[in-house]
Amino acid sequence: MSTSSHSYPMSSGDDQHSYVHNSSYQKSGINGAEEKTRQCIFEKLDLQLNSPLSTFRIADYGCSVGPNTFHVVQGIIDTVKSKHSEDNNETSLVPLEFQVFFNDQPNNDFNTLFRTLPPSSEREYFSFGVPGSFYGRVLPRNSIHIGHTSYTTHWLSKVPENVCDKKSPAWNKNYIQCNNLIEEVTNAYKVQFTKDMGVFLEARAEELVPGGLMIVLGQCLPDGVPMYETWQGHVVDTIGDCLMDMAKSGITSGEKIGLFSFPVYFPQISELKGEIEQNGSFMIERMETIGHPMEDKALTNDFITSMFRALLTTIIEEHFGDGVVDELFDRFAKKLSEHPIDFEMWKTQVVYYGVLKRN
Ligand SMILES: C[S@@+](CC[C@H](N)C(=O)[O-])C[C@H]1O[C@@H](n2cnc3c(N)ncnc32)[C@H](O)[C@@H]1O
Repeated sequence: MSTSSHSYPMSSGDDQHSYVHNSSYQKSGINGAEEKTRQCIFEKLDLQLNSPLSTFRIADYGCSVGPNTFHVVQGIIDTVKSKHSEDNNETSLVPLEFQVFFNDQPNNDFNTLFRTLPPSSEREYFSFGVPGSFYGRVLPRNSIHIGHTSYTTHWLSKVPENVCDKKSPAWNKNYIQCNNLIEEVTNAYKVQFTKDMGVFLEARAEELVPGGLMIVLGQCLPDGVPMYETWQGHVVDTIGDCLMDMAKSGITSGEKIGLFSFPVYFPQISELKGEIEQNGSFMIERMETIGHPMEDKALTNDFITSMFRALLTTIIEEHFGDGVVDELFDRFAKKLSEHPIDFEMWKTQVVYYGVLKRN
């Protein structure tokens, strides 16, 4: 039932380079929206939907290896429990039981995820792993009361075809990302993003119960700001420069770089909102951008290097082969130390936060 999609999970395991130890930037973005999620669940979730409701189902789409997903899920459960007891008088209260569905691509490190679950004595939910691409159905119809996804849908189901085609005007020749410098490249990415977002929303609309809430959060661009003007865009362009340097030293080839581009697209906020409105499967209860809580503090070079390494290792290894990642990120760290990021000069992405209600 799930459509096929290329899959590049975050760094597995729990060593120093793993996502487990290098996901505090994402966690901080999630924390920045926690109070909003609490409010929205209180105001917008109608628990009488399945009356008498005794099993409450939550899905985290693109959960990775933790620990962020555990934090998110616990926050949702705490809020639903308080709302449930507030909405019902204590004597007639049917206790809720929670089922949590952890979704990610089949080659995500589910072993680490399940090994590091909170201990059963503290865990208030039954856990299920759901391997499969969220660009397609992964759960039964009308089964989920709250869906959540954070830092996921900028990963497209694939690189737009023309972007790695030398004969196409949309060939992303000198870059490894959609940095918005070449109009044809941007357009090719936009088309893929629109398709993927449509499939994502339609699949979630089938899986959520009517009135169920879908919480979406991630990085996007403020309106009018192209990726190449942001420090995040600059970081990925610099990783591209390091690959070019490695090609000059014979460690990889220009040919290989020309055939590579990340399947990642950061929309501007109005573009994202427009896709959701146009799709029509959900009513937008809330959609806003918030500053990233870490943005005030200058992020250190080490932090940035480790964060991007945990995000990009799998895809870089798949295309360029084992053994290039150490060299690439050593070179990247050296470049950053020689030319530190001037956070005053660069613009930044923002966090988008949305709560959607299934029509
Ligand atoms: C940056 S991590 C975010 C993890 C977690 N949600 C968080 O906020 O820390 C992105 C995750 O999305 C997953 N992902 C990307 N495309 C996916 C797809 N098509 N289906 C399911 N998961 C996907 C990746 O495998 C990865 O685990």
